[in-house]
Amino acid sequence: MTDLDLPTSDAVISAEEAHVAHNYHPLPVVVAEGEGSWVTDVEGKRYLDLLSAYSALNFGHRHPALVAAATEQLGRLTLTSRAFHNDRLGAFAAALAELSGKDMVLPMNTGAEAVETGIKVARAWAYRVKGVPEGRAKILVASGNFHGRTTTIVGFSDDPQARDGFGPFAPGFEIMPYGDAAALTAAIDDDTAAVLIEPIQGEAGVVIPPDGYLRAVREACTAANVLFVADEIQSGLGRVGTTFACEREGVVPDLYLLGKALGGGILPVSAVVGDRDVLGVIHPGEHGSTFGGNPLAAAVGLAVVEMLATGDLQRRALALGDHLRARLEPLIGAGVTGIRVAGLWAGVDIDPAKGAGREVAERLLARGVLVKDTHGQTIRMAPPLIIRATEIDWAVEQLRLALAD
Ligand SMILES: Cc1ncc(COP(=O)(O)O)c(C=O)c1O
Repeated sequence: MTDLDLPTSDAVISAEEAHVAHNYHPLPVVVAEGEGSWVTDVEGKRYLDLLSAYSALNFGHRHPALVAAATEQLGRLTLTSRAFHNDRLGAFAAALAELSGKDMVLPMNTGAEAVETGIKVARAWAYRVKGVPEGRAKILVASGNFHGRTTTIVGFSDDPQARDGFGPFAPGFEIMPYGDAAALTAAIDDDTAAVLIEPIQGEAGVVIPPDGYLRAVREACTAANVLFVADEIQSGLGRVGTTFACEREGVVPDLYLLGKALGGGILPVSAVVGDRDVLGVIHPGEHGSTFGGNPLAAAVGLAVVEMLATGDLQRRALALGDHLRARLEPLIGAGVTGIRVAGLWAGVDIDPAKGAGREVAERLLARGVLVKDTHGQTIRMAPPLIIRATEIDWAVEQLRLALAD
């Protein structure tokens, strides 16, 4: 397509409004190109991407190593289904298992599929290993959770917008207050198969649990022979300055649920990662996916894991996260009522006097910065981990100005 062929934003948006189901309310920008931390819209205006597709673009747009891995694989083989072996999946799984310190990987595509897979594995483990009577397995989840959009998953959400109108829902889940280890421990009984939590809640607005919560969850699960399932789909793979957010408390869950950044911003790749005594409960024919573990996904996933294996990006996220925090702190009391920062991930609560989160996101858009509001008054920042400190400075200055607009 030449530049002359590019449609205008208005034309694209009205075509979308006419023909795409209204399950999203996007900001009014039509992105046509991306490179690193920047995108360009159809009119040629550039924006700094501080959302990174909800952490799916941890390595930025079109990272050369990831594009090279995908391009090489596109020239050889893209899809086999798991009816046959392909020559990429084994290497990807071995590398991801090593990065995670676990034995095995069950590859899927989207995050919600990884969560569904984790639920099935936990239930199968409860019946076949722990000895929970068939049909009674219970999974404890947290208030404020976000694990995806399937009917089972929204059934244990406490967000009415996610749930209302989509029941009936699957039984077997109990919601406990996030961050309250004592309540969680008290709720565990003989039928409890697993505790499923986000080590940091992303959609909720980068909500960081009290210090010691993850350790207490780990201890309670170990003591009661219950699986600790960590949904690291948004928090994992470098975002918080460690490979996994659980590492912030030195905790290792029984199952990691991974997604988003695992696909390098190129295609959906998710996985459940665990040891043989847990993941080994799944037998041929019991679970699967036409696309899960496809060679293109495995090639990109392997390149992602190789980038993370050096630890450089994690160290960068930690250092730049401190930088971001230092830049955001002076805004508290000047249009911002609070911030929560973990690595290169920030929830910024906007003073309602300055407008709703959406309005501030629109003002930032006009200033060339892409962010997304969540839950009314919060703006979530998740820049690519490759962003420069000077770009963070510029973006926070735009936020300061947007709050004054
Ligand atoms: C913690 C968490 N789990 C699961 C999901 C669902 O992932 P997907 O949208 O790829 O299904 C998300 C998506 O935002 C998430 O943040």
